[in-house]
Amino acid sequence: MRASEWLVALGLSPLSSASILPAEQQSLGDVEVAGRKLSLTDDLVALHKNLTQIESISGNEKEVGDWLAASLESQGYTVEKQLVEKDPERFNVFAWPGKVRDAPVVLSSHIDTVPPFLPYHYNKTDKTIFGRGSVDDKGSVAAQIVAVNELLSKGKISPDDVSLLFVVGEEVGGAGMRKANDLGIKPKTVIFGEPTEGKLVSGHKGTMQMVVTAKGKSGHSGYPWLGRSANEVLVRALEAVITLGDKLPKSDKYGASTFNLGRIEGGVAANVIAETATAKIAVRIAEGTPKMVKKHATKAIHRAVRDFLEGELEAKDIVELDFGGKGYGPIDIDADVPGFDVITVNYGTDIPWFNLTKDQKRYLYGPGTIFVAHSADEKLKVDDLYDAVEGYQKIVLHALGKGEGHEEAKVDL
Ligand SMILES: *[C@@H]1O[C@H](CO)[C@@H](O)[C@H](O)[C@H]1NC(C)=O
Ligand SMILES: *[C@@H]1O[C@H](CO)[C@@H](O)[C@H](O)[C@H]1NC(C)=O
Ligand SMILES: *[C@@H]1O[C@H](CO)[C@@H](O)[C@H](O)[C@H]1NC(C)=O
Ligand SMILES: [Zn+2]
Repeated sequence: MRASEWLVALGLSPLSSASILPAEQQSLGDVEVAGRKLSLTDDLVALHKNLTQIESISGNEKEVGDWLAASLESQGYTVEKQLVEKDPERFNVFAWPGKVRDAPVVLSSHIDTVPPFLPYHYNKTDKTIFGRGSVDDKGSVAAQIVAVNELLSKGKISPDDVSLLFVVGEEVGGAGMRKANDLGIKPKTVIFGEPTEGKLVSGHKGTMQMVVTAKGKSGHSGYPWLGRSANEVLVRALEAVITLGDKLPKSDKYGASTFNLGRIEGGVAANVIAETATAKIAVRIAEGTPKMVKKHATKAIHRAVRDFLEGELEAKDIVELDFGGKGYGPIDIDADVPGFDVITVNYGTDIPWFNLTKDQKRYLYGPGTIFVAHSADEKLKVDDLYDAVEGYQKIVLHALGKGEGHEEAKVDL
């Protein structure tokens, strides 16, 4: 039975359009599913406000997770808290409205944010919401929930069609999404929410970390030939890194790989030859794999520092390279839903951490722009939030074979 039919069975009239409800209306009406009553909210702005007001900097997601789980439970969803870390306690929130836990479509976004916390603030004049997480990523969280709620209440999807997965730790290595692989679900489609300006993203660059540590020999600055300046070694190494992006293979889709020299530290005082110096670098990979980048970067850096070698020394003795373990190459994403602009982006997401199963479709879509995410001016236009509800609905319907075009095909038969 469709949700609209349940409503009729319950003596309630199905809602023709949820958007005509006044903003204070908390519930879309009750829907009975297998003996369970759903009491779905469509109060998008209030839901988004409630989420954004709770500080949830990566590592501190417990409070927002508890709130979200309670909210979904009170709406009638079955909710599972998946522990990701014991101390401090952090968990993913996995929820489904019907009888089917492993539903064909999963909508997913992250509930952690970057620091520092910025309080929620609404500017009526330009209908803009400010605050940490307003765009990255609580706009997606709220829009995904309301999109599903409206589809359910209008009977456009069955409760067994969808589930919701809200994860911790996206901003710092994807611990939540990597843990989500243990949920044992195999959705046919996963819709990931991140700020994409309401466009569908057909792929994003890969990423990896790189730490360069130069090792010197300290001494008096008046006798530099007795020592070896780690700062000088590092500067030479970094000169090679700066030009490396343009020398690596390029991609038609993503352009060139880039190296951001995010943090440099070295030496102790002006009159002391520096003994150590380090640089932390974020690489955005346009083509190839982390392994390939590692090979080229190592070769270029070792060549760049060879003037400093003497005696038995080898390049690896004066410059250490650490590439960490969590890199990945560029990620291609599906973008075949009609009616959307399609773009590529340069930021990383949780997508590579959720194991792809055979024939699985993945979409990336959400309200607001990445250009204000992580900034002191993080904000989201209310209109964009509402548009995203429609956008998610289009993608869900398409994924279920109920989207535009499918309808007509049925009529033709
Ligand atoms: C938001 O929080 C307020 C205060 O707890 C509550 O009354 C309201 O129902 C919540 N609304 C939504 C949509 O979460
Ligand atoms: C709200 O936005 C308007 C238009 O951008 C601006 O002039 C005003 O100062 C803002 N108000 C507050 C309280 O920030
Ligand atoms: C997911 O993929 C990772 C990396 O390939 C692998 O180690 C892990 O076992 C996979 N998990 C599941 C549940 O398939
Ligand atoms: Zn994000």
